[in-house]
Amino acid sequence: MDLHIDGARLLRRLDELALIAPITGPNGERGNARLALTDEDRAGRDLVVSWMRDLGLDVSVDGIGNVIAVMTGHPGVAPVMTGSHIDTVATGGRFDGNLGVLAGLEVIESVIEAGIKLERPLAVGFFTDEEGARFAPDMLGSLVYAGGLGLEEALDIVSIDGARLGDELEKIGYQGGAPCPGPAPHAFVELHIEQGPVLEIEGFRLGAVTGVQGISWTRVTLSGQSNHAGTTPMQMRRDPAAAMIRMGAALQEIVADVGSPQVGTIGSIELKPNLINVVPARATFTVDVRHTDERTLRDVERRLRVEMERIAAEHGVELSTESLARFEPVVFDERVVSLVERAAIERDLSVMRLPSGAGHDAQMMARLCPTAMIFTPSRGGVSHNPAEHTDDDDLVAGCQVLADVMLALTVNAWMEE
Ligand code: GLV
Ligand code: MN
Ligand code: MN
Repeated sequence: MDLHIDGARLLRRLDELALIAPITGPNGERGNARLALTDEDRAGRDLVVSWMRDLGLDVSVDGIGNVIAVMTGHPGVAPVMTGSHIDTVATGGRFDGNLGVLAGLEVIESVIEAGIKLERPLAVGFFTDEEGARFAPDMLGSLVYAGGLGLEEALDIVSIDGARLGDELEKIGYQGGAPCPGPAPHAFVELHIEQGPVLEIEGFRLGAVTGVQGISWTRVTLSGQSNHAGTTPMQMRRDPAAAMIRMGAALQEIVADVGSPQVGTIGSIELKPNLINVVPARATFTVDVRHTDERTLRDVERRLRVEMERIAAEHGVELSTESLARFEPVVFDERVVSLVERAAIERDLSVMRLPSGAGHDAQMMARLCPTAMIFTPSRGGVSHNPAEHTDDDDLVAGCQVLADVMLALTVNAWMEE
């Protein structure tokens, strides 16, 4: 089956979706801010659903707001599925997530246009709140789809702006009746931008993604004594900001000690009352640590915990922590990974194997069925930033290989390979 996708149509749809909730970077770069379950997210959803319906697909919405569109005509046959997300972080680029959804749509439209008859249907979906930027954890919709988190528990999650997930879902009209957990597809493959520098540095057009590193998110709250910044002697303070700064330094030291590929990030800090001449009463910050090896990740978590307890005691502040997300590393299905590699080589595209640094819906779908991912290069490795960029040729090449892999997966013989 030789199918050629329409690259121009893919790029047009990417441009059109990017018109919803646009933001501009410092050098005029075009990005997006479509935080999960906001009015902006709803507008993006409505547009993508209209495209799904235009293709005559069977569109369903489940209890957590995941939207899945399946080709008709194969009742009871598990589809080969692709998809990703269309929510973004507040400082999002145009490609993170959106590429995977719109490329899936393009593959399906090309198959329909070419009149190709398949042994099993194709499906494309977008999952709710992949970013976890508004409601933790990340990959929330696909986690619920895969049965890793109960629907009721998920609906009760409260956002960084104090809203209940279930209420927000209802407000935007995307609480559907399709069951959670959802049915297992025959296989799942997700196209995504790399969001890191490896493919560009190594000079490869595509990545065959071997798995996703483990992710640990924690919210840390330090409570002390608010007081006057001029009159309170240093030894009499119970200053949560001072403790927080030392904890941040401890995180950097531990990460440096473990070395690459260990990463550690403090991405959000809040002080109360956050005034220049007041020793704060409270400091709240988030810690994101990731590694491809579960034992190493656990050890980093343990070491950080010991340091935080020691520092909190030295400053006389109370320490409390809340786990916001914790996912072990995921290894993708070798057969699907090598299908991706072979499909790229068939198209004369250089391809390398690499693990993913970012979290993805595919890591949840891997609990249900054979799964892998395809990466396209990210210029300068920049992502979660309006400057996020992938060349048009690479976007189109990624979509073509996605089509080739999805078609190969519809043929039952691939399982035995
Ligand atoms: C989510 O996409 C993450 O990797 O933070
Ligand atoms: Mn993403
Ligand atoms: Mn992202």
